[in-house]
Amino acid sequence: MDKVIINDVAPRDGLQNDPVALSPAERVALIDGLLDAGLPSVEVASFVSPKAVPKMAGAADVVEALDLDRADFHALVPNRKGYELACASGIRSVGVVLSGTETMNRENINMSLDRATSVCAEVLQQARADGLGARAYVSVAFECPFEGVVPDETIERLAAVMFDAGADEVIVADTIGAGNPLRAKALFGRMVAAFGATRLAAHLHDTRALALANAWQALECGIRRFDSSAGGVGGCPFAPGAAGNLATEDLVSLLHQAGMHTGIDLAALLNVVSDLGQRLGRSIGGRTVPWLRRNLAAA
Ligand code: COA
Ligand code: ZN
Repeated sequence: MDKVIINDVAPRDGLQNDPVALSPAERVALIDGLLDAGLPSVEVASFVSPKAVPKMAGAADVVEALDLDRADFHALVPNRKGYELACASGIRSVGVVLSGTETMNRENINMSLDRATSVCAEVLQQARADGLGARAYVSVAFECPFEGVVPDETIERLAAVMFDAGADEVIVADTIGAGNPLRAKALFGRMVAAFGATRLAAHLHDTRALALANAWQALECGIRRFDSSAGGVGGCPFAPGAAGNLATEDLVSLLHQAGMHTGIDLAALLNVVSDLGQRLGRSIGGRTVPWLRRNLAAA
């Protein structure tokens, strides 16, 4: 059976911009719930400036509370300082974030595109030398909230630099959810032709209700690794208009209906989503939740 690896980013991308701050202990409870539901991979934290992203404070406390043998855990690092803090926490895989435009890099990490490219490359090289997993987000694929359309060739070029620096995976990130199935087919097809499907992942946002349609295009292109977020929470604080991530339950529901295997127990995942909604003080969840609840209750 076709196997798809889902990396849940709710504890990081999901919570970094939420109005409600969850304590490290609450974030650990969320991560444990995701693992109990069968998630094989979770982005658990970001080692960023607490002034820039207060909701991610306590990243080391989160990592230190985890049983690191239980799953693949990743942390986002924007610079060398973040890398060093991440290393000290014991995490075994880091991800750098390189945006496709000048302005987005400046808004997000206060670096020019050139500087961001070289800092990301250095961190990846260091991670490889230290034996850590090294991943790279190439962000604002499709469109930048400040500069508009981002050419596919830019995303391919930046991904090539990240692979050359030692990235074992490049995550093509539609940070503001501006992709559509036609563009997704073109970009993912191009990336797979250039780098092979096994080294690529897709990170999609559902701003225009097209994340699932775009995910399908990535699947058709051969991609089998996805980021998504339990309950669909999330969005980048520095990208105006960024709405929720593709909800993990919507993606899993699609994959299971298509006969693909994820190892994820949807009933357990829905409990995690309800729990997270309670902690955030509002109702959350992907579009498939009402149907899933009826369906699972009847099963
Ligand atoms: N973790 C924690 N603190 C950090 C840090 C990191 N990775 N990098 C820098 N800092 C601290 C510095 O020590 C310094 O602290 P001080 O004011 O107490 O002396 C302060 O932050 C400023 O450092 P500087 O290197 O000048 O950073 P900056 O102001 O240019 O900001 C980033 C650059 C990358 C640190 C900041 O923009 C950031 O954290 N961005 C995160 C973006 C993000 O998470 N986006 C969403 C995910 S894509
Ligand atoms: Zn995102």
